[in-house]
Amino acid sequence: MPTLNPFTTLTTETIIAARAREHTPFYLYDEALILAKCRAALAMPSAWGLRVRYAMKANSTRRILQIIDRAGLYIDASSFNEARRAVLAGILPEKIQLTSQEVPEGEERENLEHLMLSGLVYNVCSVRQLEKIAPFAAKHALDLSIRVHPGVGSGESASRNTGDKYSCFGVHKSDIPTANEIAQKHGIHFTQVHTHIGSGGDPEVWRRNIDVVLGIIGEHFPDATSVNFGGGLKEARLPGEIKANIDELGAYAKKQITAFFERTGRKLTAEIEPGTFIMANAGYIVTQVLDAKRTGADGFDFIIVDGGMDVCARPLLYGSRHPFYVVGPAGELRSSDFALPEGARDIVVSGRCCESGDCLTLAEGGHIETRAMTQPQIGDSFVVGGTGAYCAAMTPFNYNSHTQSAEWLVTQDGTLTQIRKRQELPQLVENEC
Ligand SMILES: Cc1ncc(COP(=O)(O)O)c(C=O)c1O
Repeated sequence: MPTLNPFTTLTTETIIAARAREHTPFYLYDEALILAKCRAALAMPSAWGLRVRYAMKANSTRRILQIIDRAGLYIDASSFNEARRAVLAGILPEKIQLTSQEVPEGEERENLEHLMLSGLVYNVCSVRQLEKIAPFAAKHALDLSIRVHPGVGSGESASRNTGDKYSCFGVHKSDIPTANEIAQKHGIHFTQVHTHIGSGGDPEVWRRNIDVVLGIIGEHFPDATSVNFGGGLKEARLPGEIKANIDELGAYAKKQITAFFERTGRKLTAEIEPGTFIMANAGYIVTQVLDAKRTGADGFDFIIVDGGMDVCARPLLYGSRHPFYVVGPAGELRSSDFALPEGARDIVVSGRCCESGDCLTLAEGGHIETRAMTQPQIGDSFVVGGTGAYCAAMTPFNYNSHTQSAEWLVTQDGTLTQIRKRQELPQLVENEC
């Protein structure tokens, strides 16, 4: 049976075997590829050491976290609940960094303090956050990380740029003196400076960010021993897309960190925070074709599949494009973006939600696009690739009262294992009063 694409060992047989055990739609992950991506990230060149933190927002399912933890990566959590989920997955607090827009209050604050005392790194993201956290950090002599707003940003779409003036993340450079005054007043030290330009952005901006953040460290942060360049390493999901060359980016970072040492005598260790790079291509969504229609002579050919925005909101949110595979009942690969057969037709792929934006072929701005493929048959498996990151973790899955989908993993030895059960209807309504 054919493999789905050049970077996986998963075949169409795996899809058929998984469909025999699970209702569509469901997620399917490729452990061998997750591990290969972890190794590639850890091998990125560095001057005085590199720590790779997995941005768990990309996919926070327990088994995925455990695989990545055991591969030697640390964690970046973007909410306190994410940090708690990492702990529940068995990850040590000292391997977790919290980079969030809010400081928990009440009982949650006590839990946060407990985790900070156990080694969780608090990454300060605003002056107000610093005011809230500084007295506790000072009392226990805890060092802090600070996320600065680098003033340069780039994302695969405008809404994923987190580094320029259109984005509010981090302490803006105009606020750095105030942050430093507060830190001095409390006698606390920023031992790491952190930035993140955005998700899936331009590698050239990633390089520029290295220079910007090293400049900020030289000017404002004498205690920093570590620099975190964030995530945003672009991945190629479809043929022809250009991915970030992490060896080249690492080599550039190494050169600039070495030059920083030559200028200042300070040796900085580096951190990166990939989410997409680790998970994007290691995940698939298996749906089935429910229906096919045409909107008149001057209209479009549609197919309707049983998993759209409720399992993958990325096209609707950002106009993201994902590879599609059409697999027949005997495992025949009828169509694939990696090997388009002759006689392909232009088709629009819609999900099953009552929302015209529930479409897997959307351009940015929500405009319907077509994709060339062999006409799928009703009941065929329609597989959406490049969906390991920001899909299971980021969908409005209960819209139209659909239930959250199951997740499956193909382990390194080829075993098919369920890692999340499908939500049942009683679970969907259980908290209603
Ligand atoms: C602070 C931070 N780090 C890392 C990431 C991961 O980005 P990516 O998935 O593009 O690697 C994000 C994503 O938004 C982020 O906000």
